[in-house]
Amino acid sequence: MRIEGKEYRTIWYEENIVKIIDQTKLPHKFIIKDLKTVKDAVNAIKIMEVRGAPLIGATAAYGIALAVQENKDREFIKKSAEELIQSRPTAINLKWAVDRMMNKLSGINSDQILDIALKEAKELCNEDEKFCENIGIKGLRIIEEIYNKKKDTVNILTHCNAGWLATINWGTATSPIYHAHKKGIPVHVWVDETRPRNQGANLTSYELNEEEISNTIIADNTGGILMQRGEVDICIVGTDRTLSNGDVCNKIGTYLKALAAHDNNVPFYVALPSSTIDWNIKDSREIPIEERNSEELSHVEGIDENNEIKKVLIYPKKSKAMNLAFDVTPAKYVTGLITEKGISEASNESLKKLFNR
Ligand code: MRU
Repeated sequence: MRIEGKEYRTIWYEENIVKIIDQTKLPHKFIIKDLKTVKDAVNAIKIMEVRGAPLIGATAAYGIALAVQENKDREFIKKSAEELIQSRPTAINLKWAVDRMMNKLSGINSDQILDIALKEAKELCNEDEKFCENIGIKGLRIIEEIYNKKKDTVNILTHCNAGWLATINWGTATSPIYHAHKKGIPVHVWVDETRPRNQGANLTSYELNEEEISNTIIADNTGGILMQRGEVDICIVGTDRTLSNGDVCNKIGTYLKALAAHDNNVPFYVALPSSTIDWNIKDSREIPIEERNSEELSHVEGIDENNEIKKVLIYPKKSKAMNLAFDVTPAKYVTGLITEKGISEASNESLKKLFNR
């Protein structure tokens, strides 16, 4: 997708270095950052220079390639794999990507191991891009149906950033929106700010602006009244881990949007590539929910008149704060799962059938 008219992917490898767009500086500064070692990759995931389930998976895949580039010792690569998996706990894509890389490299001791690792990481990225494009093609149908009935702008509410910045390209929740826009269907996006890190305001609105898609940032608590007023036609969100029973783990606050959507008969869709499905965990209470530093709540970052990024405290100094990063929306509130293979009901039977499991 485009930034200032130039096409980018979110991660690529060039002259022994993995390049990423530093998402902690967006929307104020567009900085391409170098990852030279596996430690750099672990750190980029932890501090969220890269974020979004598919992109942290892709970064972990390149992290394995960087580990191989540094040191071909098996123990080092294994330890690096473990560190990458532990760097953020909730998105299943991390483990999925690391396992895929380690399986590919298993038993390979030749000089070719780096080439094989790099090729696999690139293939994983290409596959994610293709899958996200397909999610858009499948999801477009839903937006088109609404437009054909309404014959007016389709209002879509989204939470967090499940846009192209969270994937390699296209995004998951945004891909049907980009496809609808390209087809000439008038769309407008309600962008949940997504406290505390503001991925909606900082990233989703930014990328929609770059693609010239009409959007409005709203405080996280605004979706409910907009749904009551009939100003939301559909919600589309992403996910960090969807269980085979259809329960959806996503950015904190997603559950409340799903409840409001249910109460107001607004369709609530979740868009995901199959790499985000956890086929093992059966009970959502077993999903590890990341708890991040409370400073993300108590402090806010912005840009001052000298173009400097500044961080300021907004809470009382003595107050405690708690920062859970994800919640779970039970399958019963999910209208459908938009995947690269098509639209599935949020149920075991439907998902298994679609993915031949
Ligand atoms: O904490 P983040 O910014 O990594 O959380 C991202 C989300 O919750 C996204 O909705 C999810 O990863 C899907 S991205 C296509």
